[in-house]
Amino acid sequence: MNPVKPYGTGDVSFLAAGGRQGIFRLVDNFFDRMERDPRFETIWSLHPDDNAVSRDKLARFLCGWLGGPKLYTEKYGAIGIPRVHAHLAIATPERDQWLTCMSESVAEQDFDEAFKTYLMAQLFVPAEAVRRRCEAQ
Ligand code: HEM
Repeated sequence: MNPVKPYGTGDVSFLAAGGRQGIFRLVDNFFDRMERDPRFETIWSLHPDDNAVSRDKLARFLCGWLGGPKLYTEKYGAIGIPRVHAHLAIATPERDQWLTCMSESVAEQDFDEAFKTYLMAQLFVPAEAVRRRCEAQ
């Protein structure tokens, strides 16, 4: 019998998130929520008025980051997550707005509960790295 591979190995996380379609759906939910909910006004205002590219970039990044195809690099080139945020005013409240907005979007997806918990724990790591980098300026 094949052992069940844990999240984080190969493309297990990518598939648990519904593949490319599931990840793009999650990111649309995330940006739609950020736009309409005043709790996320600060981070919404940091984004460009036309956020179509921001949606495409985040969704593509997450595909590769979760072990799927490297769609961000294919289209936009190399990326360092803390570096691309270094010009932004992101401290703990902004980090937490981002994580809360994402967590509420993740909660609405058709993912296994264990994967939802795993994904949010994983996302804390780059979110915290962004905060640290921005506050070091
Ligand atoms: C800590 C809270 C975060 C905030 C407030 C935030 C906010 C933003 C903003 C405002 C932009 C657009 C920048 C611009 O166009 O000038 C952006 C870009 C981006 N963010 Fe975040 N972000 C956060 C965390 C993250 C995390 C954790 C990830 C990945 C897991 C991520 C992935 C990206 C990507 C891929 C881009 C596009 C970068 C580019 O190619 O220019 N962000 N973010």
